[in-house]
Amino acid sequence: MANTKGLISFGGGMPDPQTFPLEELKEIINDIFDKYFSNAFQYGVTSGILPLREEISGLVKRTENIDCEPDEINVTSGSQQALYAVGKVLAEPNQTVITELPTYVGAISAYDANMINMHGVEMDDEGIRTDLLQETLDQYKGEGRKARFIYVIPNFHNPAGYTLSHERRKHLIDLSVDYDVPIIEDNPYGELRYYGNKIPSLKSMDPDERVIYMGTFSKVMTPGLRIGYVIGKKDVIRRVNLLKQALDLSTNTLSEYIAYEYLKRDVMKTQIPKNIAIYRKKRDRMLDALSQNFPENSKWSKPDGGMFVWATLSEDIDTGMMKERAVKNGVAYISGMSFYPNMEKKNGMRINFSYPTLEEIDEGIRRLSLTIEQETSLNKQTILKKKY
Ligand SMILES: Cc1ncc(COP(=O)(O)O)c(C=O)c1O
Repeated sequence: MANTKGLISFGGGMPDPQTFPLEELKEIINDIFDKYFSNAFQYGVTSGILPLREEISGLVKRTENIDCEPDEINVTSGSQQALYAVGKVLAEPNQTVITELPTYVGAISAYDANMINMHGVEMDDEGIRTDLLQETLDQYKGEGRKARFIYVIPNFHNPAGYTLSHERRKHLIDLSVDYDVPIIEDNPYGELRYYGNKIPSLKSMDPDERVIYMGTFSKVMTPGLRIGYVIGKKDVIRRVNLLKQALDLSTNTLSEYIAYEYLKRDVMKTQIPKNIAIYRKKRDRMLDALSQNFPENSKWSKPDGGMFVWATLSEDIDTGMMKERAVKNGVAYISGMSFYPNMEKKNGMRINFSYPTLEEIDEGIRRLSLTIEQETSLNKQTILKKKY
């Protein structure tokens, strides 16, 4: 549907292809043919080729102050595979994990596929409400059960756009220690900060290996190469590795060599600032368009980075029902309930700003506002009809 001619899509979470390091990738791939031909096209190592894991260990030290050895890293086919694998390793069917509300739709599908129950804890603009989380953990304790882990996206949340504040990070770590519950820190957008200062990663604040960290090259290099990674204590990584042997033997070896060279040549150093400049403009344009066009009774997040804005409309609007009208008007988005494990939230929507052009952002938000106006007046008519 998102490919309908003339349709402007705020639906996907795709990077702008302009941000792909085309020239560098051409050079790298050519060199791989010369240098590593026999290895790059051969079966790989389940945990990921060692030089790549060494580079990743250096990368997370520089960017997130995470100390880890290559044997505490498993390279995965995107971080999506890590979400699935760690879910399966840490939780059995019918056990419960805690997620933010809303949460990443791919995590919902990974946990659903493993038949894991999800308990959502509301967020506000400082991220997950750790006071509510504490209440939940207390309640579980009282009932003699334990959440298997807490899954969070601390930076520029998908879909909410919020960033977990430093204070809340400290509280979250304390809770994980006090209640002995592991944390999964999923950080695909950490390098894409457009405003403000970096906040320490949960993993760097972790006193005793309770945090399992996930990263990906999808939003900084290219998503098509499918390279992600998971970092955690050796026992968890060993079990992920065993599961990965059953899933795909290894991540795509050619992609691993590309990622290795990409890190070794420090392409990120020149590429990330360029990407940030492109996305910052788009983020600003979208927030301007929203303030100029969206109804007064709606609100939206103002992300400091990442790719998404989360908008909340008036209570009477069901964004799932409104989607069809939006597509007729030439604009697409993802309705909020897709990001709620029980699909209960009706008036939220995720709008992506990384993929559309600046002009599409202006026009798409105009179309979306028109759609909301039409939906609101239709709802009013329905209420009036019911009254008389
Ligand atoms: C929060 C989050 N986690 C994980 C992923 C999966 O990324 P990939 O499998 O491309 O590494 C995404 C992709 O959009 C995401 O937004």
